[in-house]
Amino acid sequence: MSIKNTQKIEASFKNDVHQGLTSFPKYLYSKYIYDKKGDKLFQDIMNLPEYYLTNCEFDILSLHATEIAELFSNIQTGFDLIELGAGDGKKTKVILSHLTENNFDYVYKPIDISQNAIDSLTNNLAEELPQVTVDGETGTYFEVLERLQKYNARKKVLMVLGSNIGNLLHPQAIDFLTKLKDIMSSEDLLFMGFDQKKHPQTILDAYNDTTGVTAAFNKNLLHRINSELEGDFNVDNFKHWEVYDPESGTAKSFLVATEAMEVSVKAIDLHINFDAWETIHTEISQKYDDKTVQWLADSAGLTIETSFEDEKGYYKDYVFRRK
Ligand code: AVI
Repeated sequence: MSIKNTQKIEASFKNDVHQGLTSFPKYLYSKYIYDKKGDKLFQDIMNLPEYYLTNCEFDILSLHATEIAELFSNIQTGFDLIELGAGDGKKTKVILSHLTENNFDYVYKPIDISQNAIDSLTNNLAEELPQVTVDGETGTYFEVLERLQKYNARKKVLMVLGSNIGNLLHPQAIDFLTKLKDIMSSEDLLFMGFDQKKHPQTILDAYNDTTGVTAAFNKNLLHRINSELEGDFNVDNFKHWEVYDPESGTAKSFLVATEAMEVSVKAIDLHINFDAWETIHTEISQKYDDKTVQWLADSAGLTIETSFEDEKGYYKDYVFRRK
């Protein structure tokens, strides 16, 4: 990433932390959980037995690889498979190996905010699937979307796995889907994962594991403020707390202060007080049903072409086209 970009991200981190901790009620954005330690903790979450999302999507991709590959392909021109938020590409490899084994003509373009993620994915694919042409890029979704506007020489398939859209409130999700739609031509596809509504306890357990990995992931926000912005949060004075509202389908994460305290964040010249049991809202993980996804698609100018679900019906990948 360029120095200019790094400076821009640092400035937004400072502004957003100031804004969030001086608001009432207090909040912090979950995107700031992901530094090197946060990335590692998220990998650990994906391996937790309680965090069913990863396995469900893995099963969907394995079970329906043939059908998905047919949908993606264009025999005349080939296609570009562009994955936003590629991470370690573990699930995507299922599709990549199927496409490669069956001689489909395509280029895989993984995109991630982390240069580290793109480098290791590129190296790993060179070893595991050397036939795949990989052309990775680093940047935020929105920066890369601007660059992708020119990507119209042949069919493209945009892919967003992992129910990443669930970390956005509905209006932001519509905005994101609209921006994706705007760069799609009539033959392009959007393939996106949406975690589904299900037994509320199953959802709560996924975000409140017994080993405390999700708690450590959530608290990484405070560790980052301490190390990068000279904060003095006593992280042990905060408890990870998860709630799930089955009506709206929204899982919400909080950090709850277990006692009254004063906290300083020197780099942004901030002194704040916490009352005992005061909260910091840190993340939403939205759960969906077909009606809600249909509504999001309509609002963004997309139509649902088809969808794939796992055996338990916990998770769905939808395929969208421009209306
Ligand atoms: C990345 N995102 C879709 C995850 C989720 O399920 O909301 C992040 C996460 N938060 C706690 N556990 C996992």
